[in-house]
Amino acid sequence: MSVRPADAAAIAQGAAILAEGGLVAFPTETVYGLGGDARDDRAVARIFAVKNRPQFNPLIVHVKDAATAARYAAFDDRANALAARYWPGPLTLVLPRRAAGGLSLLVSAGLDTVALRVPAHPAAQALLAAFDGPVAAPSANASGAVSPTSAEHVVDSLDGAPDLIIDDGPCSIGLESTVVDASGETLCVLRHGAVTLEELRAQFGAVDDASAAAVPGEPVKSPGLLARHYATRLPLRLDATAAAPGEAYLGFGASMPAGAAGAAHSENLSPAGDLTEAAANLFALLRALDRPEFDAIAVAPIPDEGLGRAINDRLRRAATPA
Ligand code: TXA
Ligand code: MG
Repeated sequence: MSVRPADAAAIAQGAAILAEGGLVAFPTETVYGLGGDARDDRAVARIFAVKNRPQFNPLIVHVKDAATAARYAAFDDRANALAARYWPGPLTLVLPRRAAGGLSLLVSAGLDTVALRVPAHPAAQALLAAFDGPVAAPSANASGAVSPTSAEHVVDSLDGAPDLIIDDGPCSIGLESTVVDASGETLCVLRHGAVTLEELRAQFGAVDDASAAAVPGEPVKSPGLLARHYATRLPLRLDATAAAPGEAYLGFGASMPAGAAGAAHSENLSPAGDLTEAAANLFALLRALDRPEFDAIAVAPIPDEGLGRAINDRLRRAATPA
């Protein structure tokens, strides 16, 4: 394994590794992805193995543009409008899979739909263009752990498993893409992200929100919605306006509550109270506080609007006892 800065030589090497069935970790504007050729079952299987990911959890297929995406899924007018508005960018579309596209069946984990995304990050774009094929890429972390927003996180979490890690510094958004199921009659948000529910409703009318934990007894619609999916090792205590002496405190906004003064250590998601900044800092600060010398991590209340919804969704899942 090597870690290389995102220059032309690293992109060329990454494309060559993908073509040979290897795995390349690369930056996107959301989080780092662990990529493999989405047509190659063995490469896809290796992704599941390296992540130790439950087999039933399907992967997102990354492509360089909407025209390429149309080879792998059926786009109706609404899907075309979504793609035109948000690609390249932090939106993943779940659409009916086209059998003729030749994607590995493992990518969709048995579903007749496929999740597609066109990332905006220049290094991701360059890699997809150089490889000139579909790249299956979940977040580049061990399954269930905090998502990686820097190359260093990838090294820590995957312990040398990718053949190459392309390093282009921290991710600007820092939270996984919004996943929208556009395969049914009504659009449905399966995972919150930087493209917000409010924004989607303003542009596309009715949009369901399926991102709440799965209904008991119902089949799991998006396995990423499993209650405990983004876990820290320490227990998380949410909506905390005070901290016990052994707890680390993760604040939000200008004024740290007086009750948090006794925390063993404290960090702030965004002293300015900015949800975008908080999202970008979330996984890195959770990692920084997830240390054995603390008893738990107490997290300040985060406004449940816009990107705050996605942050709270991640926090609630991470706080669910194993
Ligand atoms: O920002 C992102 O989306 C990152 C970067 C690397 O692009 N990728 C990422 O992939 O987060 P992953 O595999 O960790 O998350 C994929 C999400 C999961 O919640 C999964 O259940 C859902 O998308 N998903 C994938 N295919 C699906 C499908 N056919 N139907 C429903 N949900 C699907
Ligand atoms: Mg993930």
